[in-house]
Amino acid sequence: MALWGGRFEKDMDQIVKAFNASIGFDQRMYNEDIDGSIAHVTMLAAQGIVTEDERDQIIAGLESIRKRIADGEIVFDVEDEDIHMGIESRLIQDIGEVGKKLHTARSRNDQCQVDGRLYLKKEIRQIMDELMELEDVILRKADQYADEITVGFTHIQHAQPITIGFIFMAYFQMFRRDIERLSDTLERMDLNPLGACALAGTTFPTDRKLTSELLGFRGPTENAMDSVSDRDYAIEFLSDASISMMHISRWAEEFAWWNSSEFSFISIDDSFCTGSSIMPQKKNPDMAELLRGKSGRVYGDLMQMLTVMKGTPLAYNKDFQEDKEGLFDAADTWKACVRIFTRMLDKTEFRVDRIREHLDQGFLNATDVAEHLAMEGIPFREAHNIVGRMVKACEERGCQLEDLTDKELTEIDPRVNKESLGDISIRACVDARRSYGGTAPSEVRRQVGEGRKWLDSLSEK
Ligand code: ARG
Repeated sequence: MALWGGRFEKDMDQIVKAFNASIGFDQRMYNEDIDGSIAHVTMLAAQGIVTEDERDQIIAGLESIRKRIADGEIVFDVEDEDIHMGIESRLIQDIGEVGKKLHTARSRNDQCQVDGRLYLKKEIRQIMDELMELEDVILRKADQYADEITVGFTHIQHAQPITIGFIFMAYFQMFRRDIERLSDTLERMDLNPLGACALAGTTFPTDRKLTSELLGFRGPTENAMDSVSDRDYAIEFLSDASISMMHISRWAEEFAWWNSSEFSFISIDDSFCTGSSIMPQKKNPDMAELLRGKSGRVYGDLMQMLTVMKGTPLAYNKDFQEDKEGLFDAADTWKACVRIFTRMLDKTEFRVDRIREHLDQGFLNATDVAEHLAMEGIPFREAHNIVGRMVKACEERGCQLEDLTDKELTEIDPRVNKESLGDISIRACVDARRSYGGTAPSEVRRQVGEGRKWLDSLSEK
């Protein structure tokens, strides 16, 4: 019979046991569960609710269980129901009657939340480390490719020339926000639900500030009912994960395109590609595609959690046990994706020779010509129209804007000649886009410097 079986006459049906159990997935929080129990019993002793000797016996018992789980000596099964029961029942088996005092002034409803939050805090720190490593690689690559020019697209059409370093710094900003978002989530969820008990607190003279301190939380949660009913910290984490996976997925998509024979802008390292079982020539960008695909699964985890919570009344409901698998899956997936992506990025070379072949297609310097004409005093809207007509003339002649003769230009508009166009080489166009946040190499280097300062300040924390 289960530890809670006092009012029951019959044991649970075997298939009900299996259906009810969360031990299959919540056992990965065994360390957090034991940490929570040690903090709890330390507080119970400090408050005179158990004796110091009882505390010491319980702590020694828990530490021995921790070691045996780590060594694979304890194997849980559905009879354990969940990690809380699995550990507590073994404690009672091991140390006898005194073990039965551990569950004084707490409930599994707050206990599972302590475990969940401690576990998630640890995961968040690891994911932040991975994201910081990604940012470090991005900064190095941005610096390496600060001068190299590539095609900037809008609507997947050639738009304006940009530097490769500039693209890196665009993604740098996205991942920076991912880190900041995660850090906000961590700050908000860093409160201790332990002592909320089933839903309404307890008649025991507990000290929730002490357990918070012992467990490294900023402080106790404010309202007991909220503490056991809320899963918005998990939803927030899953939202952070979804947004970040969307960023990874977008860049992975670009990687797959850039790596295609049509583009050949990059060459993804062999060690991040796979071959085909039938087509001997193939080198497929599978990692990029998997990174893109895995975003779908993390969004699914978020949707699952939102749906589980919707319509559940206060306070604890067993639906909430469904909060774990999606959370673990999202954390595992996100962490693995950042790690793979960082390594893949680090090993990817840009084929500047191949990129160069694309630079004289699509009139990448058209905006620059219009801007030069506007600086000569022609209102921008008119300049835009003139360059539009120049592009049309070029298309008819099959040439570039810089190939139009003085005569052809004057025919389009009497105010325009070769001199008024200024230097419209792709290099000059890129170098001149020095506006704050622009693509010029000097500006990209400034952004890299700024990014480095921010990243260093994070590492110091
Ligand atoms: N395994 C449960 C969960 O993860 C623990 C809480 C159970 N509480 C209860 N009253 N049945 O949600």
